[in-house]
Amino acid sequence: MSGDSTQIFNPADKVAKIAHCSSMEQYRKMHEKSLKDPEGFWSEIAKDFHFEENGLGQFLDYNFDVGKGKIYIKWMAGSKTNISYNCLDRHVSAGKGEQVAFYWEGNDPADAEIVSYSDLLKDVCRMANVLKSKGVAKGDRVAIYMPMIKELVVAMLAVVRIGAVHSIVFGGYSAGSLADRMLDAEASALITTDAVWRGSKLIPLKEIADDALKICRSKNRNINVNIVVKHISRVTAPQSAANGASNGNPAKKTHFDDTVGWDDKVDVWWHDVMKDVSSECPPVWMDAEDPLFMLYTSGSTGKPKGVLHTVGGYMLYAATTFKYSFDYHPGDIYFCTADIGWITGHSYVTYGPLLNNATSVLFEGVPTYPHSGRFWEMIEKYKVSKFYTAPTAIRTLMKYGDEPVKKYDLSSLSVLGSVGEPINPEAWLWYYRVVGDSNVSIVDTFWQTETGGHVITPLPGATPAKPGSACFPFFGVDVALLDDEGHEIKGEGEGYLVFRQPWPGIMRTVYGNHERFETTYFKKFPGFYCTGDGAKRDKDGYIWVTGRIDDMLNVSGHLLSTAQVESSMVEHEHVAEAAVVARPHVVKGECLHCFVTLTQDAEFTDKLVSELKVKVRSTIGPFATPDYVQLAPGLPKTRSGKIMRRVLRKIAAGERDFGDISTLADPSVVEVLFEHRPKDK
Ligand code: WT7
Repeated sequence: MSGDSTQIFNPADKVAKIAHCSSMEQYRKMHEKSLKDPEGFWSEIAKDFHFEENGLGQFLDYNFDVGKGKIYIKWMAGSKTNISYNCLDRHVSAGKGEQVAFYWEGNDPADAEIVSYSDLLKDVCRMANVLKSKGVAKGDRVAIYMPMIKELVVAMLAVVRIGAVHSIVFGGYSAGSLADRMLDAEASALITTDAVWRGSKLIPLKEIADDALKICRSKNRNINVNIVVKHISRVTAPQSAANGASNGNPAKKTHFDDTVGWDDKVDVWWHDVMKDVSSECPPVWMDAEDPLFMLYTSGSTGKPKGVLHTVGGYMLYAATTFKYSFDYHPGDIYFCTADIGWITGHSYVTYGPLLNNATSVLFEGVPTYPHSGRFWEMIEKYKVSKFYTAPTAIRTLMKYGDEPVKKYDLSSLSVLGSVGEPINPEAWLWYYRVVGDSNVSIVDTFWQTETGGHVITPLPGATPAKPGSACFPFFGVDVALLDDEGHEIKGEGEGYLVFRQPWPGIMRTVYGNHERFETTYFKKFPGFYCTGDGAKRDKDGYIWVTGRIDDMLNVSGHLLSTAQVESSMVEHEHVAEAAVVARPHVVKGECLHCFVTLTQDAEFTDKLVSELKVKVRSTIGPFATPDYVQLAPGLPKTRSGKIMRRVLRKIAAGERDFGDISTLADPSVVEVLFEHRPKDK
């Protein structure tokens, strides 16, 4: 797939003509300055932002080398600022209050709302005052479990306005996953929503959240504040629900108003508490290195890591990557389809766009509801110029052919972004030719929850793109490829993708476990931040990210750890051992293929397979549901008992070039596993 260095697509003229960075020469100059003189480079950028006190503080101080002691990264320590002030007040004071911040569109196209910067500021101040009145203070963690509605943006900005730390949990996670995250974060408050329609499915968020609160209580964490948005009664229900048809949802409730559970000691309605509260609330001035938010990401041990970002560096980095990677200009209409529950939504639905005073589309629904042209319809309706989505969405929509795209006028588009996993050249080309009418720039942005913002990406007005390559490092990012021994691979070659020095948006720690931060990212190659991905550099210096080289899998752009899925499966009484690997999937990129060894006398039946799928679904969340579960009378293990996953990956993919399997304790298991392999669906 990757490595094809022949096909090159120059930036679209209409983008290059006005771009902030409009040539490779300019890119190289800026990149070089950003590495040699980080202070000079970033302090120039910081001038656009409001710092209340102490100028820009001590600009940069760090240790990236475990050999030299504790790992730390500090940007602008001592300076005082507030990100909600920079997202809102700064623009309103500059006379931009009436500008649209968000065009919100609901799951049903009939539901829509326009939110201006001054509307947003007032609501954020009101919610900030509510939180204060509930006792939430600087440094407290507030969990947020909400759908893609305006109140989600209000909630996160209100939390950070008063110096508290948000921990957003994606609305597709189960009660158990939500509880784990609230417990680990030691959250003191929760903000949620009664329910939401996703396509024709009803997701009973409050009910799930109640279960999570119960779990927390059983572990002696009493979360006594739960602010609930009343949402479901104000939106249009899908046709199928109105007709009383089953919508395939476990809750099967459509009149949520009457049925939502309520605990008077804990629950309050959002609209009630917002009623009589002041719409002014001065921001709490935060040290640039104070915590801003945490967001959980999968860890290879199975326990999710609370990735912690801090105020100042994240602010500069989210804003600058947004400006350059999408070449944002006033007048653009920007649409990122990611859910705010993931880092893409944090950086490129909320913070990046608002810091740039941008106008965005905020979309509650799914790409194929009520029809497969929904994205394209919205691009036409709002005259979207910059569009950002994931390869899995592109591949899903490609299946419906060109016709649903061609029905709409997409001539407003100029930059199309991709994120979440390597994009296959076929999907890249379809995105470019069919969606972009061969008159756009494509940006394949590589980054991670941990990096805060794009770290390898083309710049749409400068970089000649190669389909499937994330191209070159962003400003401040110093890429190296290393071999197993940690020797640097210069020029063409393939190795571990690592970064040599900190950029402002890099995470600062794993919440409550700094040692895990050091071990996960810095121990393997002292002096470098290790991404966990492999990458190739071609003869022209382009970087091609080839995917994870640890025990993580990437399903539809979401990282999952094999250990997490395995530990859920072995909880089933008939499963003795489970090993989970990634299997290539045409839409999801990768899907889960699970090998299960059963306890004595247990039988491998369809019923067991569906029970295991339900188990994983309910412990982690629907997006983690395995596609394949197969019987494994034995697993390929080394003599020391380590499962050889590369062999399992080959079996899952249906490939027989195993390489050297002489270290296996019993090489005959391989053939047996092959016999039991489920065919491609
Ligand atoms: C992992 C990070 C940060 C965005 C959403 C995912 C993979 C992400 C790309 C890309 C190749 C990519 C990597 C990375 N990834 N974008 N453009 N090309 N791979 O965030 O859940 O923290 O996952 O996603 O494997 O390590 P995440």
